[in-house]
Amino acid sequence: MLFKETTVSGIPVKNRIMRSATHDGLADENGAPSDRLIKKYEHLAKNEIGCIITGYAAVSKNGVSPYPRMMKIFDDGVIEKYKELTDAVHKNGSPVILQIAHCGRQTSSKAIGLQKVAPSNVLHTFYPDKAKKLTESEIYGIIDDFVSASVRAEKAGFDGVQLHGGHGYLLHDFLSPYGNRRKDNWGGSLENRCRIVELIIKGIKEKTNLPVWIKLSAEDNRKGGMNIETSVEICKILEAAGCDAIEVSCGTVQDGMNTMRSDLMPMDAVFKYREPCASFPKFLNKIALPAANLINPLIKQPKPLENFNVENAAIIKKSVSIPVIVVGGIHKVSDMENILSQNKADFVSMCRPFICEPDLAKKLAGGQQEAKCIMCNYWVW
Ligand SMILES: Cc1cc2nc3c(=O)[nH]c(=O)nc-3n(C[C@H](O)[C@H](O)[C@H](O)COP(=O)(O)O)c2cc1C
Repeated sequence: MLFKETTVSGIPVKNRIMRSATHDGLADENGAPSDRLIKKYEHLAKNEIGCIITGYAAVSKNGVSPYPRMMKIFDDGVIEKYKELTDAVHKNGSPVILQIAHCGRQTSSKAIGLQKVAPSNVLHTFYPDKAKKLTESEIYGIIDDFVSASVRAEKAGFDGVQLHGGHGYLLHDFLSPYGNRRKDNWGGSLENRCRIVELIIKGIKEKTNLPVWIKLSAEDNRKGGMNIETSVEICKILEAAGCDAIEVSCGTVQDGMNTMRSDLMPMDAVFKYREPCASFPKFLNKIALPAANLINPLIKQPKPLENFNVENAAIIKKSVSIPVIVVGGIHKVSDMENILSQNKADFVSMCRPFICEPDLAKKLAGGQQEAKCIMCNYWVW
């Protein structure tokens, strides 16, 4: 089943293996894909991948990530370069979906040079500077930004867009009662919390012919936040609004290693690259790093490490009729086949395994039984 040709949202795909969105940090200074990034996507496409979902691309100036060299799509000037990317991928037989995102309060005003915004002003442990609570007209502005980004995506030749509705970014924050404390039309009831995403989906459908997918965190470990029961209800509302496929993930950046689970934090990389550790004076790091390495095995990490969103995907799949994609710790061909044959999801997607082996889909089709990725998470920092 895994390697049989099929379609998703009307798009022909070679198999049921997708590359889940992966921020590569390779956009140019305007946020357009660099030649290196285009080569990377070309290489993925050449190697039998079913479908590529790009790393997240910011739809608004105040929705940019603090991570360097994020893709951006809020300006017509970048369309041509995105077109080079889609041409390179299409020439090699793969469809490509653009993931579009607004980082909300999961960024820092200092890093983006603008006041960051969110549905509510909830403190973020990693990005503690205060977010401005969005006004109603600013919310409509962000809806327009998502729609305009999709119009650009269509002009650039993408086969669809995927809304980043998970991992603690702006749309997740609207959907989740943890991030959304509003008492107006955009908060409180489930219907109100879904409104922004519904209007974005409808807006994109009105202005383009693109399929609209969404990636959601079915659970997020936040007190009063997303849980599978709420997620099922959200998925039903989004399907009714016209959403074409749902990718099931989990967690937020605040959860640490929940979204991309690993046995151990790569402490040397954290201390070298991650703020505030990266700015510690060198003498402090000489003491702090060995201490961190010592306590590392004692830090309780989310479990299981493998196939960790499959059961939630299966519950969602039972409640909707649009395709469900599942991501998270999927490595073995036998697991992939089981997920599909047991009707727990329609497609499997992977991120870290494709960082480790960009030609993984071809290798699996050729008989390799398992991805070589050991979930070291060095790439994350
Ligand atoms: C380096 C890196 C970059 C990522 N960038 C994105 C992104 O841009 N958008 C997104 O939705 N998820 C992103 N993720 C999360 C992955 O898509 C995926 O949900 C997570 O890594 C779990 O899947 P895996 O076990 O196959 O890696 C990223 C993960 C990593 C490791």
